[in-house]
Amino acid sequence: MNNNATIGIVGLGLMGTSIAVALLLNGQKVIAVAPIVSDLDKSAPHRIRQALVECFREGMTLETPEELMVNITFTSDYANLQPCWLVMESVFEDLNIKQEVFKKIEDHVADDVIITSNTSAIPISILQNFFKVPERFFGIHWAVPAYTSRFLEIICGDKSPVEIGEQLHEIAKQWGKEPTLVRKDIRGFITNRIMYAMYREAFHLVEKGHATIADVDRACKNGGQWMAFCGPFRYMDLTGLQAYHAVMKDLFPELSSQTSVPKLIDDIAQADGNGVFNGKGFYEYTPEEAKKWAETFDRFAFDMNRLSAKYAAEIAKIPSQEIPE
Ligand SMILES: NC(=O)c1ccc[n+]([C@@H]2O[C@H](COP(=O)([O-])OP(=O)(O)OC[C@H]3O[C@@H](n4cnc5c(N)ncnc54)[C@H](O)[C@@H]3O)[C@@H](O)[C@H]2O)c1
Repeated sequence: MNNNATIGIVGLGLMGTSIAVALLLNGQKVIAVAPIVSDLDKSAPHRIRQALVECFREGMTLETPEELMVNITFTSDYANLQPCWLVMESVFEDLNIKQEVFKKIEDHVADDVIITSNTSAIPISILQNFFKVPERFFGIHWAVPAYTSRFLEIICGDKSPVEIGEQLHEIAKQWGKEPTLVRKDIRGFITNRIMYAMYREAFHLVEKGHATIADVDRACKNGGQWMAFCGPFRYMDLTGLQAYHAVMKDLFPELSSQTSVPKLIDDIAQADGNGVFNGKGFYEYTPEEAKKWAETFDRFAFDMNRLSAKYAAEIAKIPSQEIPE
């Protein structure tokens, strides 16, 4: 793997553009392929430039947007991916569209080029079977915005060599991430799996009438602050694991184990509600309110990134023992 070379991104929507910004900020060269040509003339270059302007203003880089934009090439021709050592797919979450895009990528790059998907939920082992060389394929799952979050999951499919996953895991640290290697292709990977367990319990409490939507939101926001500092196991250590041990026995049988989609979200989704994107979600939003929420969330992400980098540096100074594999 020559990780000093260029990285390709295919799909220039919300995530593809965000990933491009993260890579540019960390000194990578990017070939950005727009499978939908209209992404090229309107949104994608503009969105990337705007994000770089914000990152520069927030002090995340000393390089100006103009200097960083020199390192990205926009194209709709897959043949331009030829110099890449790694190509990341980030197109619409649809099996058929992804399959079509994978074929085009694989037809234009050498057999030793690593290809990854940013899929949120499609198992990597299913996507892997679309390839002539399935061993070259991994999941690389980013959070949005990719440039302010230290999150990155690298997922091995059934046919992905774990040693290559380990190398990707090392390389991703150079992109300013604190990556996780998911050695087995499990549904939802790690974060989504844990988060969905929480979402299910949140619906359960509201549907049972034990708490309102706003109360659940407030409780999680304030009670879950520690999650930006450490994970659940470190948190139990920090706060005394005996208490957790005692509570689990009585509480676990009370938690929801529902397997169907909760009615609360089903009703809104069936009526085309899409949260701040169209003003109809668990809360209602005027266009002004939706804009304010999105902007405030954006500023919060920059502040959290600063805080999280500060504490990651402090934590790195604490001698600690990793649990043996
Ligand atoms: N949005 C998130 O928070 C998030 C987080 C992590 C992962 N993801 C995953 O990232 C991927 C991209 O999501 P997004 O939020 O950027 O979506 P998006 O709708 O913003 O962008 C999708 C992009 O897919 C491409 N595309 C659309 N239709 C196509 C077609 N017919 N043929 C080829 N390309 C086509 C276009 O480049 C388009 O811009 C998805 O797999 C999604 O599940 C999203």
